[in-house]
Parts: sequence; C-alpha cells; structure tokens
Amino acid sequence: LVWMAGGLTLAALNPMALANGWNMPEGVTALSRDIYSLHMIIFWICVVIGVIVFGAMFYSLFRYRHSRGAKAATFHEHTSVEVIWTAIPLLILVAMAVPATATLKTMYDASEADLDVMVTGQQWRWRYDYLGEDVAFTSNLGTPREQISGTSEKGENYLLEVDEPLVLPVGQKVRLLLTSDDVIHSWWVPDLAVKQDAVPGFVNENWVRIDEPGIYRGQCAELCGRDHGFMPVVVEAVEPERFEEWMAQRKEAAQQEAMSADREWGLDELMARGEQTYGAVCAACHQPDGSGSPPAFPALAGNQALLEEPDRHISTVIDGVAGSAMPAFRNTLSPVEIAAVVTYERNAWGNDAGDSVQPSE
Ligand code: CUA
Repeated sequence: LVWMAGGLTLAALNPMALANGWNMPEGVTALSRDIYSLHMIIFWICVVIGVIVFGAMFYSLFRYRHSRGAKAATFHEHTSVEVIWTAIPLLILVAMAVPATATLKTMYDASEADLDVMVTGQQWRWRYDYLGEDVAFTSNLGTPREQISGTSEKGENYLLEVDEPLVLPVGQKVRLLLTSDDVIHSWWVPDLAVKQDAVPGFVNENWVRIDEPGIYRGQCAELCGRDHGFMPVVVEAVEPERFEEWMAQRKEAAQQEAMSADREWGLDELMARGEQTYGAVCAACHQPDGSGSPPAFPALAGNQALLEEPDRHISTVIDGVAGSAMPAFRNTLSPVEIAAVVTYERNAWGNDAGDSVQPSE
C-alpha cells in the first residue's frame, strides 16, 4: 500500500503525467474549474499529511529500531497529545468542507436556466429534446462502428464520433433533464464536469454554462449492455448568434419533414429513404440482410407474418414490442422514415414486392 501510494503520488506530481491527462481536466465552465481547484486543494492537503505521517513513521522505524537497543515505551493517556490529534484533523476537515459545500450548492442549483434540454438515454444512443423549441433529434443514430473511433481535436485516440452533436450556446445556463427509455445510462462529459445518471422513470437534473466555444467529448459511463462502449456524447458549444442560426435551420428542416409526410411518395424514393434508415437504425440488431440474431433479434427476411401485415408492421416500429429488445421508434423516426423503412422491408424480403406504405397512413 505504501509503495502504491508513493508511486501514485510521484506519478501525479510529475508534470509530464499531468500534461498527459493523468489528472482530471480543468474543464471549460466556472463550475468545472471550481471542482478542479477543490480537487487540487484536497490533493495537496493529503500529500502534506502523507509526507508528515509516513515521514514520522519511517524516521521512527529507522531511528528507534531494535538493533540499536530501543525499547517500546509503556505509558497510558496523554491529554495534550490527544487534544492535538483531535483538533488538527477537525480543523483540516472543516477547511475542506467549507469550499466543498459551497461548490456542491452551486452544482445542485439548476434554477433560472436560459435553455432546457431533455437528455434521454436509449440502448445505445442519446436523444436530445430542446424543450419548448420543437427541436429534437437522436445524436448517434446509426453511426457505423468503423467510423466512430478516431483522434480528437486534442489528439486523444479511440474517441467516438456521432452524426449529430448536442449543440449548446456558450455563456448561457443550460439545464439538462436526464432520463432513460430502457436501462440506466450515465451522461458524462469530463470537460463540462457533468456525470449524471439517466434512470428510467426518473428525471435527474444538472446544468452547464460553457465559457469557450469548442467540441467536448464524453461517453456513457454506466454499463448498459452490449454497445455500452459505443454510446458517445459530443457537445458542440457555439456563440449564441450561431446557436440561433442552427436552431432556425433545425426548425425549418423539421417543418419540411413534417410537410413532406402529407404528399404522395413514389416507390423508388421510399425505397431509397428506407434503405438508408434501415441501415442506420434497424441493421444494428436485425443485420443488413435482415437475417437477425435470434432469439433476441428475430430475422425479418422470411417473416411473412410481419411483412404481409402492414398495420402490424407499422405499429411494431412505432410502439416497439413490450418485454422485448425492440424499442418504440415513435419519437426517434419521422412518419416519412417509418413509412420508408416498412416499405423497404416489405419489398426487400416480403412477397408483395411493388407495394408501398405512405407516410400519411
Ligand atoms: Cu449507455 Cu452505457
């Protein structure tokens, strides 16, 4: 234990090790810097205590060793020593508790936010709803595994990419409301000093006010099943004007997608859209060729009972299958995407080739 503690202390003190990310990051929010300095203060207090305690112990072991004829002293009670070793730790604990309590108070105060974002964990992706803005999307819906590892802006390896980051304005207080559709996940971004569990049936609160524009990366920090290691978080912090532009674009795109559900779609365009959606969403479990991974993920190819009943097929996609691994895609996919993917599956593997399902249905 002593050697381990010594080794860790030396490693932590080495400036190279600090620069190489052995320490926690200072982060890019006032709160993350508070937490960082708290961590450093407590770290140095512990180093000083460790040096004094271990120093006294090794000195005594050496100086009063048996071979030098030292004999153990026998005495009982020493009031002033006992008062000193009670009072000093008490003072140290109070000195650590005061700034720690102040930081904790700030951390738990998510009130008066400028923006509310609902974060929903799903096996194995994150959905973001900008509450009151009618903007919502799933961040890492179908990023192929091969494409998600790479090198970050800071030169770190093995980070995971998403197809759409969570975009947030700098300088504004953003309240994060975290929940889950299935199992417990944890939304973790070290640079923002946020690691918050997303628990089904509960809504947890956290908040962030980012100081510097940039891309901040994290990942799910709660073991949540097969693809836990492929559930990245990417936050892109932008200037408020840029954020407003982005928000306007998102709203426009959402409106167009909603309007396009009302028109008649041709078979070819549904097939193209369906193939894309199937590859991005369904293929992860049901395989690109529809062969599935039974028993958890049934084959779609050859499943005529499903493919020949459009109503059942559509409701399976929209509502999911209770008690199985099939989630509800009601909020994840648009009506056009649902119609397209059902059309695609029917035509790719069913007997009714040439049939299409319209978004308006
Ligand atoms: Cu989600 Cu681990």
